[in-house]
This record gives sequence, structure tokens and C-alpha cells, in this order.
Amino acid sequence: MEPKKVGALLDLAERVLNDSTQVFDDHDHRSEAEELMASVLEVDEDDLDLDEQVPRRGRERFLSLVARRAGGEPFPLLIGFINFFGYDLRVKPGMFVPRPSSELLVERGLKKLTGRKNPVVVDVATGTGPIALAIAAEVPSAEVWGTDIAKDMVKLGRSNARELEIDNVRFKVGDMYGALPPALEGRVDVITGHVPYVPREELEDLPAEVREYEPVYTLSDETDDGLFLMRMAIGGAARWLKPGGWLLLELSHDLEKKVRRMNMKAGLEDQGAATDEDDLSIVVEARKPK
Ligand SMILES: C[S@@+](CC[C@H](N)C(=O)[O-])C[C@H]1O[C@@H](n2cnc3c(N)ncnc32)[C@H](O)[C@@H]1O
Repeated sequence: MEPKKVGALLDLAERVLNDSTQVFDDHDHRSEAEELMASVLEVDEDDLDLDEQVPRRGRERFLSLVARRAGGEPFPLLIGFINFFGYDLRVKPGMFVPRPSSELLVERGLKKLTGRKNPVVVDVATGTGPIALAIAAEVPSAEVWGTDIAKDMVKLGRSNARELEIDNVRFKVGDMYGALPPALEGRVDVITGHVPYVPREELEDLPAEVREYEPVYTLSDETDDGLFLMRMAIGGAARWLKPGGWLLLELSHDLEKKVRRMNMKAGLEDQGAATDEDDLSIVVEARKPK
């Protein structure tokens, strides 16, 4: 029999999402189903009543969202925004969707900024700017710059900043550090970077929710080792950082040793790596010598 109540619809959605081969296994499918139901019923998730009968149009809308999700459509695109570090950021199709795993990069950046007066922060490959926006919002005295090659994403970053009334962040379009004003040379306290790092050959192994919904240039520089842009981020860091300034790079676990060696070769002091509780991401940390 066709499920009509909230609880039964959620059970069905959870089963469908668990069976999907198009999405990452580590998503919490129950909670995604609840969020979708809440958005359809226009209530808070905590107010969902499992025994409530959902009207036909609501059921159809809910099941179509679940089908889109099971087909691999990134969850934030279904509801139009992502909550990142406590801030609701708009997302749009055809752009990189910010990952909750990047919140670790924000946390590490904030830690390094503690005690620094009117610090300057640069977020390279900022995309729609989640990292830059969160740091700027958390440290109102900071001057934050975000740069990215993609005009449309930078535009969305600016519009997110306006909507959240964050006025200490500036977004520039350009190739890595190329978009920064020369006056920032040697003045930057922290550089953050979640740059593309997937090797060309591994692109096809990514789940559909990534491969089919996000432009390739946001995931990979399409070189054999996928580290061309990482080398640019590391190679250019010393020029922009002040002595004692930090370079923080988000990457996958398997790249940790290699990137730490790259940092040292570039004359930066290796300061290890940080991981989050879920062990989803890693942030490699290096400092410009004092
Ligand atoms: C993995 S995404 C991360 C985006 C953002 N930092 C985030 O976490 O949502 C990588 C970003 O690198 C940008 N990118 C690719 N090539 C670039 C280049 N040559 N210079 C600057 N940004 C570049 C892409 O446009 C994309 O936004």
C-alpha cells in the first residue's frame, strides 16, 4: 500500500537512499529524508509528526525529491542552500557545492588567528566562498580575501556575503594568487586552500553526485597526480605570508605525506596535520619561518 504518513514516507525514503549507488555511503540518509520532508511541509525538522497524513501533492513532491537524491543530485541543490559552519549559504547547479568537511579548515584557520590583531586572511580557490565567509563572519576584525578562477562562483560568494551582511570579505576572480592586490605581499596571516586535487584517472571513480553535478575543473586540474594547483598554492605562499604566517590546505588522507614534503621543499616549516572527529578530511599545516 502506498505510504501516506510522514513516518512511513521517511522509512521508504531511507530505504531508497540506502540502496542508491549514486551517493556517498557516509551520508545520514534518515536525516536527509527528514530535511526533505520538513522542506516540503514547510516545518522545522523537530516538528515533524510521524503520524501526520501528508497530502497527495506533498507526497508527490517529497518522493520526487527523494528520487532526485537517489539519482545522485547533491542534497544542498535540492533545497537550495547548505548550512556551513552555522551560516546558510545559497548553492546553485553547475557549481562546486561546499562540503561540511571543510568546516575543519575554518576551525584550524580560526585557531591560528587567535591573538592576531586585525589579521589578513586569503582563501585561494574559494569557489562560492564558504571558508572565507565563515572566517570573516567569525572574526569581524579580519580582512578576508577569496579568489577563484570561476566568475559565477565568485558572484555567488559576493551575494552570500551581502545576504549574510558580512562586509569584511572581498572576492576576486583570477588564477590562484594572481587576483590579489600586490599590497598584500608579505602581510597575510593565514592562507586557507581547498584546491582541486583529484588525479585525472580517478575522476571516473567519483560517485555520480560529484562527477555529474560539479564541473571537472572544480575537482581536478586534470594532471596525472592532480597536484598542479596544490603546487601553485604552496609555491606562492611564502611571497604573500608574513613571517610566522600559516598555510592551511585541505586534502585527502592519502596525500598528507606528499603535501607535507612539498611544503618543506618550498621553504615552509612543516607543522603536521589536523583531522576532524569523523576523519573525513585532513588539513596539512605549514608556517613561514619567523
Ligand atoms: C574543491 S573546489 C573548492 C571550492 C571552495 N573552496 C569550497 O570549499 O567550497 C576547488 C575550487 O578551485 C577553483 N579553481 C580551479 N582552478 C583554479 C585556478 N587556476 N585558480 C583559482 N581557482 C581555481 C574551482 O573553480 C573551485 O571553485
